[in-house]
Amino acid sequence: MSNTFLSIERLTQIFPDGAGGTLTVFENASFGIEKGEFVCILGHSGCGKSTIMNILAGLAEPTSGVVKMDGFEVSGPSLDRGVVFQNYSLLPWLSALKNVTFGIKARHPDWSKDRVEAHAREFLAKVGLEGEVVHRKPSQLSGGMRQRVSIARAFANEPKLLLLDEPFGALDALTRGTIQEELLKIWRGTNQTVFMITHDIDEAILLSDRILLMTNGPHARVAESVDITIPRPRNRTEIVEHPNYYAIRNHLVHFLGERSKALAGKASGGETQSPATVRIDRTAPSATEEDAEGERRLRAVND
Ligand SMILES: Nc1ncnc2c1ncn2[C@@H]1O[C@H](COP(=O)(O)OP(=O)(O)OP(=O)(O)O)[C@@H](O)[C@H]1O
Ligand SMILES: [Mg+2]
Repeated sequence: MSNTFLSIERLTQIFPDGAGGTLTVFENASFGIEKGEFVCILGHSGCGKSTIMNILAGLAEPTSGVVKMDGFEVSGPSLDRGVVFQNYSLLPWLSALKNVTFGIKARHPDWSKDRVEAHAREFLAKVGLEGEVVHRKPSQLSGGMRQRVSIARAFANEPKLLLLDEPFGALDALTRGTIQEELLKIWRGTNQTVFMITHDIDEAILLSDRILLMTNGPHARVAESVDITIPRPRNRTEIVEHPNYYAIRNHLVHFLGERSKALAGKASGGETQSPATVRIDRTAPSATEEDAEGERRLRAVND
């Protein structure tokens, strides 16, 4: 994993279980993320996704194991890692604009006030917030607008790694669709690396280069890394026409519906737990009858 931008090595998290015992959320989990990749993680509630993200952000310490970014061990929060939480966590007493300039000032103490503001406005405009609205406080904004501000704030700091914990969880489908597209546009323009938690399979396919699949806990594992073999740029209406779309979707649904349970609860026995790579490509010349049979079986399970 020497060239890997983000390297998660034998990460173990054990919490007290509240009844005098312990809860092993995951153990010896290892995986990597390449520079510029967009990776989503899917798994059932409570399997440990936010716990992993908090460790990557440097907001929590694992029981054992290390996270390295650009070859350096992550310890404590840093402006190189931007986080968008599910509840957007804007500062309520500051306007949308000031919520964004706040971080830029910290990152670039040498920048003039005008430069900071122009940079903030540029990123707010990227998520469709322009004009008088940037002077409103979070309480005067809709949920979708607040979410846009928090995305603009995270991207405006130009962190090397962006960590998103269910950033669109609270939004209606329409707003969600628009913001997903805005997120993709900014990501394409900046070549940042994104690690995102979501519960939405279609969102994960639309956005990701790869999807990591987690089994249920305790002793959860990142069991698979599924390549999204659908070319970019993608949009939500055309993507479903791609021959790989339903094959990938069915694989994910089957994993979450059946295999995440079947594989759950097994201690690692000290072994490093790395995900298996899954590549489903119905367009490849080597797509065999066996693939077709596998896909029919998955459809049968999910229909
Ligand atoms: N600080 C803590 N102390 C004790 N147990 C904890 C702590 N934080 C998380 N847990 C437990 O660890 C497990 C994983 O929690 P985590 O929040 O990572 O799940 P998640 O996959 O993000 O779930 P969700 O999809 O519901 O957000 C849960 O069983 C949770 O109760
Ligand atoms: Mg969570």
